[in-house]
Amino acid sequence: MNKKAIGVFDSGVGGLTVAKEIMAQLPDERIIYFGDTARVPYGSKSEETVTRYTRQIIRFLMTKDVKAFVVACNTMSALSLSTVEKDLTLPIIGVVEPGAFVAGNATKNKKVGVIGTESTIRSGLYTRCLKRIDPEIEVIGKSCPLFCPLVEEGLIDDPVTEEMARRYLFGLMRQDIDTLIMGCTHYPLLKKTLAEIVGEKVTLVNPAYETARELRHLLKRLHLENEAAPAHYKPAHDFYVSDSAERFSEFAAKLLHIEGLSAQIVNIEDY
Ligand code: DGL
Repeated sequence: MNKKAIGVFDSGVGGLTVAKEIMAQLPDERIIYFGDTARVPYGSKSEETVTRYTRQIIRFLMTKDVKAFVVACNTMSALSLSTVEKDLTLPIIGVVEPGAFVAGNATKNKKVGVIGTESTIRSGLYTRCLKRIDPEIEVIGKSCPLFCPLVEEGLIDDPVTEEMARRYLFGLMRQDIDTLIMGCTHYPLLKKTLAEIVGEKVTLVNPAYETARELRHLLKRLHLENEAAPAHYKPAHDFYVSDSAERFSEFAAKLLHIEGLSAQIVNIEDY
């Protein structure tokens, strides 16, 4: 059981930031990644549609015999995780709760900003999780719909992205937040730009980091770790997408420093 892979999935390339953290913190674990590049973005879609997509991805990853799932997408975690987990016998974790946990403990003035897709912000899940930690925390949400296409276009260090970030963050900064959750898996790729705009006084929270930590605890608790891995073992991760495999592979190879990474196409509507 322990040699089985972890199924990690997102609507596109964003979840690779979570995969990267898992690779760093759990270097013996093998990942099977799925990015729904044909149907991205999810962030403006309804709960019903996102839940249907999430179920299809889970069914596909089941055919790869994974031992656990990581929903490496805030939108799916916010809209669909609580529904899909009811039908599952395998463990599954999302990115919202781990991110909220860190932010709730990091804030001093109890003013936390959350940026994410329209659906994530509308779901209010970050607010509910933060209020559970401390009901006095004020949560200010802001959807940033243009960030995902900018990242997908590779415009990471670009004046257009910087200008958009200034506009999106203006209102949050006026409310004096001291903590900002990058509540979409694409956003940590814009961390440098975001950090420059919010300044040193604001703690930037990357839910991906905390999710990898939680995964480690989960695997340990359930005795699912691949602990028999020999020294210098390098797991061979697999990548699947629903479209544009070449574009995805190029992006992923660069981000994860995996030479020759080549994603395979899956017709996800078959699942
Ligand atoms: N990566 C997804 C998230 O974390 C959103 C991108 C999309 O809109 O599909 O919310």
